[in-house]
Amino acid sequence: MSLELLDIHKHFGPVRANDGITITVQEGSLHGLLGENGAGKSTLMKVLSGFHSADSGRIVLDGREIKLANPDDAIEAGIGMLHQDPLVFLPFSVIDNFVLGSPGSARLDRKKAARELSELCERYGFNISPDTPARLLTVGERQQLEIIRLLWLGARVLILDEPTTGISADQRAKLFETLKALATEGMSVIFVSHKLEEVADLCERVTVMTRGKVVGEAELPVPPEQLVEMMFGQSIEIHDRDSVPLGTSHLAFDSVRTATGLLSEEPISLDVQSGEVIGIAGMEGSGQDAFLRLCCGMRTPKEGTVSIGGKDMTGKHYRDYLAADVKYLPAGRLEEGLIEGLTITEHFVLTGEKQSFFVDWNAARERAVEQIEHYTIKGTEASTAESLSGGNQQRVLLAMLPPELTVLLMEHPTRGLDIESADWVWEQLLARRQQGTSILFASADLDELLRYSDRILVFFSGRVIGELDANNTNVEEIGMLIGGRRAPSSGSVSS
Ligand SMILES: Nc1ncnc2c1ncn2[C@@H]1O[C@H](COP(=O)(O)OP(=O)(O)O)[C@@H](O)[C@H]1O
Ligand SMILES: [Mg+2]
Repeated sequence: MSLELLDIHKHFGPVRANDGITITVQEGSLHGLLGENGAGKSTLMKVLSGFHSADSGRIVLDGREIKLANPDDAIEAGIGMLHQDPLVFLPFSVIDNFVLGSPGSARLDRKKAARELSELCERYGFNISPDTPARLLTVGERQQLEIIRLLWLGARVLILDEPTTGISADQRAKLFETLKALATEGMSVIFVSHKLEEVADLCERVTVMTRGKVVGEAELPVPPEQLVEMMFGQSIEIHDRDSVPLGTSHLAFDSVRTATGLLSEEPISLDVQSGEVIGIAGMEGSGQDAFLRLCCGMRTPKEGTVSIGGKDMTGKHYRDYLAADVKYLPAGRLEEGLIEGLTITEHFVLTGEKQSFFVDWNAARERAVEQIEHYTIKGTEASTAESLSGGNQQRVLLAMLPPELTVLLMEHPTRGLDIESADWVWEQLLARRQQGTSILFASADLDELLRYSDRILVFFSGRVIGELDANNTNVEEIGMLIGGRRAPSSGSVSS
């Protein structure tokens, strides 16, 4: 079996999400599709799995052109796609989810299906029982269920789109092991990721996409620098920051640790100066969240002291940190930062300077209109938060930030944004830094970390495993630390 995508074009209005893409995937191979956010990877995979129809181009499987009008056609042809957060019918049991949506499910022998499910689980070492309610499954187990379902439906090409987001390191290891086993059995696996180190860990071949085009292909392994160069061109100029003179201490940790959980083992000491940008790297759930919450008073240290602008703030309330101009922007824009159902104007009311009893609606509306123009937000003052696109929600959040900030804490400031919006966000952030704001941001995007940080803290398993000068490090070193391996030069390895 071989699969060819030939000259695929897919536009969304003016956006050329796929601009003439040609890729060949070999039978039984682990094929990586690597590219930064917005490169067009998901669009291409949706074309291949029948969710989108291409504007032009051909898909050829085993030498025969196939036409895919919908996902059922794709499955019929043996192509199955696993979505980022597998859509599982939560109120139903595992076995119901398994048979639901399969062709002829009404006539299906449920007992036989359950037996086949168990056999497949056993074969791949999954621990899912047919009668478990699906809502009790972890994201990793839902993925396992979905992989098995696609196999059972006869998939010979398995597409996984950013499958490691939201799963633990152990689940990730298990997933990779499964994918390797499947490839050995002849399955073609297409693994989509913006994370270089994951593709390098898993895949045998990689296609790199940038802005809707294929910009490189390679048999792995190759040195990570080569992949970085393909992904970002020569443009990964990590020395292109304007240097800002660092000033006084804005945020200091002196031997801080929490009582339980992440960051309870090894104390953290740190001094962040005005105008400094600290990148926070690490696999999801390695302690970054707890760290950021300690920085803004949402968590209290058990030991050590936290000071802001030289003033001891240990144990103070989140409100006191806010009063000291420390602001935290969490990752889930709609979940935590913006409120569903409220308009842009209403958000400005909430963040108004004076919290008086009477709301000055005219002033709030005026401020909203002004900010919409200033931040080129696509929406009106009466638009609700949820009606805006991700990029525009992020713009509203930035527009709501107070003008003077000592410390700005952020999680994934550009995740899911297209390149233009991401550039815009950083333009705003760098302007703040110019005014002396210290910025700490967590990101899974190594390029973003290298490009914008002065220093990078790498978290692993609830502690800071490395602190790097962004001018003197590289993707390889960060990648190793993220995976828990200390660089040989940085002394003893503890485990
Ligand atoms: N349904 C859609 N409507 C409009 N634009 C879209 C749609 N899907 C993707 N895009 C745009 O196409 C480009 C490529 O997106 P995507 O394929 O999701 O990239 P990736 O998966 O590599 O991050 C982006 O600019 C994105 O905003
Ligand atoms: Mg995508």
